[in-house]
Amino acid sequence: MSGHRVCVGDFEEEARRVLPKAIYDYYSSGADEQKTLADNTAAFNRWRFLPRMLRNVSKVDLSASLLGQKLSMPVCVGATAMQRMAHPEGETATARACQAAGTGMMLSSWATSTIEEVMSATTSSQGSAGIMWLQLYIYKDRELTLSLVRRAEKAGYKAIFVTVDTPYLGRRWNDMRNCFKLPSHLSMSNFSTATLAFSEGDYGNDSGLAVYVAKAIDPSLSWDDITWLKKHTKLPLIVKGILTGEDAIQAVNYGVDGILVSNHGARQLDGVPATLDVLEEVVNAVQGRCEVYMDGGVRRGTDVLKALALGAKAVFIGRPVLWGLACQGDKGVSEVLELLREELRLAMALAGCRSLSEISRSLVRRVNETSRM
Ligand code: FNR
Ligand code: LAC
Repeated sequence: MSGHRVCVGDFEEEARRVLPKAIYDYYSSGADEQKTLADNTAAFNRWRFLPRMLRNVSKVDLSASLLGQKLSMPVCVGATAMQRMAHPEGETATARACQAAGTGMMLSSWATSTIEEVMSATTSSQGSAGIMWLQLYIYKDRELTLSLVRRAEKAGYKAIFVTVDTPYLGRRWNDMRNCFKLPSHLSMSNFSTATLAFSEGDYGNDSGLAVYVAKAIDPSLSWDDITWLKKHTKLPLIVKGILTGEDAIQAVNYGVDGILVSNHGARQLDGVPATLDVLEEVVNAVQGRCEVYMDGGVRRGTDVLKALALGAKAVFIGRPVLWGLACQGDKGVSEVLELLREELRLAMALAGCRSLSEISRSLVRRVNETSRM
């Protein structure tokens, strides 16, 4: 019975039941001992709200914006690779759900649907297209990399999120044990050769994706490549995967338009802090010189509210979308988005915030400042 899911955890439980084990493992895993994975969600429990009363919360306005694009709420969909493993319609279903929800979607370079087909899935007969952003992995082959950027520009994507935390893939033990690869009927659709599309190749007795990354992705990536990328596109550029104030300042100095505070869903370097714990440092370092977003462990409306109180302009969700997709395709993703919207609306109302502009740093306090819990 799929009729009554009341929290993101309910979607995950159902997804775990319906997905083949190796696919569930790939989606859910973190790196190594998954210490950071546990911390990403636990971090939200280290903060408490100090709500304000008697503020007439009969109307709560969730509208938000990201680099000038209007969003119906400050919750966006982050890049997660290979979504057709969760549902036959994969990324196109996710994109339709985002469009219906009035929020944006970041498409993975490693989508199992093309840049163009995902955009057209959001385009109605009246011609209004969804808000799409491209997540970019930088390949050793730079022409190939730029061809992805050009395709995104042409298709009407609104920004490039360049992932900077993946010179190599983190060690995800389950994927190594499962010798994870794509099911044979699927491929990374943006690439024309079987090797680049991860549909064929000798991956040995290992995580196939880790072998793929070591072969194709450029580990020499450095700040100069941000300059290189900016030279080749007019689209706004956001760096995805910053975790320190120092790197945030560096990013601003290199002229980025935004910073996504992210530890890649705890899938890269195990032992880094929860993203919520470094968000404020980044926000303070940036001092308004570019937009700052966060992802990692957002599972409840109250999590969104805490991240916004600590200075994020918007948050991104990764795994919850995969769970929605696995449960029920675009309808499942819509349900997840509407659940988070309703949870956020209620949390804001109960906290006395009628719009995002009323969410301030004084709304939250770290647990050890107020109690011994
Ligand atoms: C990811 N993430 C990711 N990031 C990226 O830049 N490109 C990608 O292709 C992927 N693929 C991917 C697959 C899966 C299965 C997961 C779980 C994650 C990281 C993603 O964008 C985001 O940073 C995290 O998922 C956010 O954490 P939560 O919401 O999953 O806890
Ligand atoms: C991952 C890659 C695709 O986290 O980013 O699996």
